[in-house]
Amino acid sequence: MKKIVIALDGYSSCGKSTTAKLVAAELGYAYIDTGAMYRAVTLYFLEHHISFTNPKEIKDALDHIEVEFHYNSKTKRNEVYLNGLNVEDEIRKMYVSDQVSEVSIIAEVRHAMVAQQQKMGKKRGVVMDGRDIGTAVFPDAEVKIFMTADVDTRTKRRQVELLEKKQLVNLDEIRENLLKRDLIDSTRTESPLRRAEDAHLLDTTHMTIDEQVEFVLERVTSQL
Ligand code: C5P
Repeated sequence: MKKIVIALDGYSSCGKSTTAKLVAAELGYAYIDTGAMYRAVTLYFLEHHISFTNPKEIKDALDHIEVEFHYNSKTKRNEVYLNGLNVEDEIRKMYVSDQVSEVSIIAEVRHAMVAQQQKMGKKRGVVMDGRDIGTAVFPDAEVKIFMTADVDTRTKRRQVELLEKKQLVNLDEIRENLLKRDLIDSTRTESPLRRAEDAHLLDTTHMTIDEQVEFVLERVTSQL
């Protein structure tokens, strides 16, 4: 059967990754969480005290960074590795969330990540979620979805997600972080977060996960 690229873009915490994972499982496709890649780079920058404004330090750092995904049969998910080390839990912590959008502004970082993402999706048969998949990484994706939800709903969902990872963060802090990231992500010069002209809009505020998955799969079926 024909294999396609499914691009899920949108604001922070509106259900992109949960939906993407389930759609990928349903189709037997690979799921690529591009946000995790930017988070892993951010973790490296923080651990190695890389200045976000020093081009030489940034270039040297990128030469030393390898981000990969490996399937964990125990957790049944693809987990992120930074230079051979599993960083799946570390990259979700608030101190990384606080800085990730600042790192994602950097053109060199974006060029490196986009090139890697294009390589990962070269054979198609992938579901990729992020901010610029339908606009910059795979402008030719057969199915593009742009996800949104009201900020209170997103804040509560994020808190539940963090609690599952045993991280207690109050709603105000989460809300502030989501709004800050959305603002930086959608106003940066290099591949900002925006809806591609041919993306289907999906507002998940009042939707269950099953309904979100159904919405995407309906658009996929019409392409196969
Ligand atoms: O998807 P997630 O919320 O984990 O993404 C973390 C951050 O990574 C985003 O807020 C954004 O700054 C950056 N990002 C990006 N481009 C992508 C995916 C994520 O700039 N394709």
